[in-house]
Amino acid sequence: MACGFRRSIACQLSRVLALPPESLIKSISAVPVSKKEEVADFQLSVDSLLEDNNHKSQVDTQDQARRLAEKAVLQQVTEDGCKYGLKSELFSDLPKKRIVVEFSSPNIAKKFHVGHLRSTIIGNFIANLKEALGHQVTRINYIGDWGMQFGLLGTGFQLFGYEEKLQTNPLQHLFDVYVQVNKEATDDKNVTKLAHEFFHRLEMGDTQALSLWQRFRDLSIEEYTQIYKRLGIYFDEYSGESFYREKSQDVLKLLDSKGLLQKTAEGNVVVDLSGTGDLSSVCTVMRSDGTSLYATRDLAAAIHRMDKYNFDTMIYVADKGQRRHFQQVFQMLKIMGYDWAERCQHVPFGIVKGMKTRRGGVTFLEDVLNEVQSRMLQNMASIKTTKQLENPQETAERVGLAAVIIQDFRGTLLSDYQFSWDRVFQSRGDTGVFLQYTHARLCSLEETFGCGYLNDSNVACLQEPQSVSILQHLLRFDEVLYLSSQDLQPKHIVSYLLTLSHLAAVAHKTLQVKDSPPDVAGARLHLFKAVRSVLANGMKLLGITPVCRM
Ligand code: ARG
Repeated sequence: MACGFRRSIACQLSRVLALPPESLIKSISAVPVSKKEEVADFQLSVDSLLEDNNHKSQVDTQDQARRLAEKAVLQQVTEDGCKYGLKSELFSDLPKKRIVVEFSSPNIAKKFHVGHLRSTIIGNFIANLKEALGHQVTRINYIGDWGMQFGLLGTGFQLFGYEEKLQTNPLQHLFDVYVQVNKEATDDKNVTKLAHEFFHRLEMGDTQALSLWQRFRDLSIEEYTQIYKRLGIYFDEYSGESFYREKSQDVLKLLDSKGLLQKTAEGNVVVDLSGTGDLSSVCTVMRSDGTSLYATRDLAAAIHRMDKYNFDTMIYVADKGQRRHFQQVFQMLKIMGYDWAERCQHVPFGIVKGMKTRRGGVTFLEDVLNEVQSRMLQNMASIKTTKQLENPQETAERVGLAAVIIQDFRGTLLSDYQFSWDRVFQSRGDTGVFLQYTHARLCSLEETFGCGYLNDSNVACLQEPQSVSILQHLLRFDEVLYLSSQDLQPKHIVSYLLTLSHLAAVAHKTLQVKDSPPDVAGARLHLFKAVRSVLANGMKLLGITPVCRM
């Protein structure tokens, strides 16, 4: 079909209303299944558009639109494949942009908290969605590989580090050292002093200090890369804070040349953000010993990325605790005269409470992944229907990840939520396990019947309310993508996919393929194929790999 549903409806309406179709397209939306009674499939949100016309023509138009849309939707799903919904008129006037998405950004040595898992999956989703919409996306992992914590870590390693432990289990060992040295530093001011000195040596480029740091970094990144591989996530650029060591000094010079730096009584150097010059609101950009801070490096990174990528939008995915930090960074960029500061956006998210493994507190992403996998394997073993799987480990990991991602994406990103292993793994109800289960079931239906009946398919056979609901729901996919693209919240897609799966479960029970006349069987098979395809598309956008067996 050359033109989409909304355009066909808009064309028809435009004749009745004597308005150009373009002005009508965005007012037309598919009626959600939950609200649908025996009325039209599409609704016009601006009622007044129809006010002047008599009731009859309205009904005619809606009726025509309904038949047109339902007939076409399956064909469109097949034709557009993984682009279904993305080719919609809703996106046709969308300018293609250069978008930088910075996400994950764990801190080497500092405790890995669940926030990094959230940043990782949310950032991946945003990057996937933007890319699917045709934008040019650059994925950056801004590793926390610099800063005072390396002063502490370097000092700590010299005091109680072990070479063999560093080799065999770097993240764990560095973390243990970091915990210990932090404890010492609170009681012993001398340790704090040593840490400051170590970081100062790093900042000044001392080769010995740098080579120790380099090893910490290399070993940690190696481990992280393995983990991202398990998650199916990649980055175009790994550039940590350390990369901006020298560039931070350049930024400080630049700030100075613009007359924006002031010294506090303690000797720290700050930028005044109050706008009144009374230093009631400041951001520290240099310590009294000349070393840079988190904010200084973020300034340098933003400027460097603008030079390198000339982005239209840059999105930072980081927990809501960093809101003030990003506000300050963006404001400083503005004060420095960079009007592109407005293109920078922080996407904040809330805290996950109660994510504990059986071993105790979660410390590393890997522990979470292993826990997800082992719990899922156990779950699968207890389900009688579990088929003989070629690679149960891999399936468990995929289903488990789907479970974690859906639990995380169901609500508004900004809200905190209570993590519950039991809720995550329910196979019924609104979980990722249910989505994977539905997908696998539809796969096996296709396997059973192959493409046997598809040639006989006659869409006119899909008259049962269950089929109509599904067709109706499939019509809405583009609107849901549109919503998520507007507010960057995955929840719209999640609830859409859950509804789709519930509809599919009902249809699976009531709409037999086996023993039906060929044209009915073909039409039903076609319908189920379309559901599976849209389900898979949506899951992939969310960062989930659909499984065909479980
Ligand atoms: N590494 C930081 C942390 O874990 C997050 C980095 C966020 N991004 C940024 N450009 N500051 O707290």
